[in-house]
Amino acid sequence: MLQTIEWKNSTLWLLDQTLLPNRIEFIECHSFQRVAQAIKRLEVRGAPAIGAAAAFGLVLGAKELCNDSDFGTNIERVAEELRQTRPTAVNLFWAIERMMSIIHKANCDKDIIDLVKDLEKEAISIASEDCAINHKISQYGAQLFNEPVSVLTHCNAGALATAGFGTALGVIRQAFSEGKITRVFADETRPLLQGARLTAWELMQENIPVTLITDNMAGWVMKKNMVQAVIVGADRITLNGDVANKIGTYSVAVLAKEHKIPFYVAAPVSTFDFTMESGLNIPIEERHADEVAQFAGVLTAPKGVEVFNPAFDVTPNSLISAIITEYGVLEQPYHEAIIALQQKKIKG
Ligand code: MRU
Repeated sequence: MLQTIEWKNSTLWLLDQTLLPNRIEFIECHSFQRVAQAIKRLEVRGAPAIGAAAAFGLVLGAKELCNDSDFGTNIERVAEELRQTRPTAVNLFWAIERMMSIIHKANCDKDIIDLVKDLEKEAISIASEDCAINHKISQYGAQLFNEPVSVLTHCNAGALATAGFGTALGVIRQAFSEGKITRVFADETRPLLQGARLTAWELMQENIPVTLITDNMAGWVMKKNMVQAVIVGADRITLNGDVANKIGTYSVAVLAKEHKIPFYVAAPVSTFDFTMESGLNIPIEERHADEVAQFAGVLTAPKGVEVFNPAFDVTPNSLISAIITEYGVLEQPYHEAIIALQQKKIKG
């Protein structure tokens, strides 16, 4: 399995996901500015992966500021620049807060070089914990499947979107290895084709049978009884169980409900926003019109046409059959289950 994020000799290496599946190239990041750019450009993408990348970005920023007499103010500027990269996935803000708490907790007479070492250790932990968490999510998720079924997924919530193994694709990997999933239908996921370029590629690397469909085929595939469950990842889950995920997820959830197909969400606790009551308040990223008006760099709409390009949507909790976390599977009523999850997280 290719490593999407790697920290080697004080350098962050990112697999350039914009080039997949045609080219496998790594970006060498020596500065926090390059990490911020990679997150904005979607060279690294997926909620947990951007959280881990930002954590290493903060390490790079702190290293640059080692001899700065105003370390405290300037590291806050670095954190803010990283926060400004993408607004929806809460893992980004969670990882930056976790890193900044190391700085806030440090004694004011602590040597900055030692502080940077602590930050580096924390970023490494964020990445390695994410991988371990995904294996736990996958174990719990696989238990939801009893007999061999075909599933549908949207976007990419795989090893590429995390520090390893994946959330929704982690569950699929695990259930496939137990003989419970026989085929995956991957929505291509317009406009940036994470499903076609990344999910189909990731599954094919491991010989997991995958059928690529365009997004507007999902309803017909369900009607023809070709899938028995849907499983997706998440970018932010609010206290009431509403889920922000890649644009198009909401439509798939509505279709699943109509066809009485269970709709599962797999996500780590770092994707829960315990400060936000409902999905109505989630900031939804809007991206450049060219992503919709062009296809592979070629204009496919009238020049200058008005475009609406939200990168995410919110699926209301009423459409979600279960949310799979590293602490187990949550079911309705989600508010109580999510408050209990928060308590478990606090106790560790
Ligand atoms: O815009 P992207 O490619 O970063 O969007 C990614 C998704 O929506 C994923 O489904 C989500 O981040 C979960 S990744 C485990």
